[in-house]
Amino acid sequence: MTVVVLLGAPGAGKGTQAPVLAEQLGVPVLASGDLLRAAVAAGSPLGVEANRYMSRGQLVPDETIVRIFLQHLKGAGDADGAILDGFPRTQAQAEALDRALADHGDRVDHALYIEVPLEELVVRMASRRICSANGHVYNVATNPPRVAGRCDLDDSPLIQRPDDEESTVRARMAQQVPPLEEVADHYRTAGILTVVDGRRPIDEVAQALLAALTAGSGADPGPRR
Ligand code: AP5
Repeated sequence: MTVVVLLGAPGAGKGTQAPVLAEQLGVPVLASGDLLRAAVAAGSPLGVEANRYMSRGQLVPDETIVRIFLQHLKGAGDADGAILDGFPRTQAQAEALDRALADHGDRVDHALYIEVPLEELVVRMASRRICSANGHVYNVATNPPRVAGRCDLDDSPLIQRPDDEESTVRARMAQQVPPLEEVADHYRTAGILTVVDGRRPIDEVAQALLAALTAGSGADPGPRR
């Protein structure tokens, strides 16, 4: 089982790159944001709770997201691994993930951190569009669809995410980047962190991430059980 954690501030390109890595490794993407947005759209109790935080750019409480995300990960148990997009995002989430994987003799194999300066992220979010059916990611400035307003892959209408408004984006950065740095340190200490420059064009970032997976990174964290 190969478990890859994709880290980065909001808008760094995790959702853009996760499918590329998933295809390469032949494993599914588990994205915490997509999971929460599906719950919001369904109007489930989780969705109602999560929306209170997401609409203000705040993190959903650890207890809630850990329970839901680890259930989701367990549900993907038949796969040969997974790309985790957006989870973990705090030290407590990282430790809960380590424990859940260790219960099955597994561990996080690679943590890939896509690094982009704050001001570039705010600009990116303003021109981001996602497809309403499956969340495929576009950017009207840097990665437009072939037909304006329609998804290349499923032809569904493209929409703007409600949390992409500039004030919410800035709240997301202020709230979410400091705990993310702690998560990066967690994996740096484990010797499995690779930092990739996310300012480069999408294809080049993908190549750098794939190269990091092929090369491995840092120290050997030891044998599996
Ligand atoms: P989530 O959906 O995970 O949002 P996020 O982490 O804020 O990340 P984004 O989806 O905004 O950005 P991304 O890095 O995927 O960038 P993208 O590829 O779209 O979470 C939403 C909310 O749910 C959170 O705010 C929180 O409330 C809650 N939540 C989720 N997980 C949680 C957790 N674990 N704990 C607690 N709460 C949680 O790219 C952005 C744009 O840039 C696109 O338009 C794209 O086309 C463009 N782009 C991408 N790469 C490049 C490039 N190299 N050059 C130019 N443009 C590029």
